[in-house]
Amino acid sequence: MDTPLLNATEIRQRIWQELQRAVQDRHHEWRTPVLATVDAHGAPQARTVVLRQADARQTELQFFTDKRSPKVAELEAPPSVALVFWSKRLSWQLRIQATATVQGSGPEVDGVWARVSQSPAAGDYLSANAPGAAWNPDATDPAPDHSQHHLAIVTLRVQNIDWLELARTGHRRAVFTADQWEWRVP
Ligand SMILES: Cc1cc2nc3c(=O)[nH]c(=O)nc-3n(C[C@H](O)[C@H](O)[C@H](O)COP(=O)(O)O)c2cc1C
Repeated sequence: MDTPLLNATEIRQRIWQELQRAVQDRHHEWRTPVLATVDAHGAPQARTVVLRQADARQTELQFFTDKRSPKVAELEAPPSVALVFWSKRLSWQLRIQATATVQGSGPEVDGVWARVSQSPAAGDYLSANAPGAAWNPDATDPAPDHSQHHLAIVTLRVQNIDWLELARTGHRRAVFTADQWEWRVP
């Protein structure tokens, strides 16, 4: 017997459930979405990030970055971003539009750093050279300064989720905002 199709309420719940799972499960296909921004020249930029938090109640997502990376300036003016997730297992694509805020210091960053500094990822936020800077492979890199990390938390407030389900029996698509949803032609 075929599994009954999820209705819109169930789809919304399942989307957030899967996003929360992706934060915990390093093998989840939604753990590494593509984040798209627009740079200072109006050109599109896109890159993979690791999903670190998914809060269904606040409709917020988080990832971590080096506060010196070019994407941070792109997130600040204007703070509009898009995220794309694809899961073969679910046959679901999510295209999320969101507004970003960047925290480079404060108690939340201190709390995250206390954890990350004990992990193998600590080096990602300690390098003396800024991400994207010119690099000479023949020169000796300055030693990392362990007294100063560059971790920033990026919080994405979700504006809408464009959900697409691929199925042999017929594709389905719906757009969800905070309190509404509507079906769309896939
Ligand atoms: C699997 C994977 C996960 C990544 N996760 C992150 C991440 O969580 N945060 C981050 O800043 N960069 C992450 N990166 C690196 C970015 O994709 C990107 O190369 C880097 O941040 C520089 O981007 P920018 O020049 O647009 O700032 C990841 C790359 C890969 C391949």
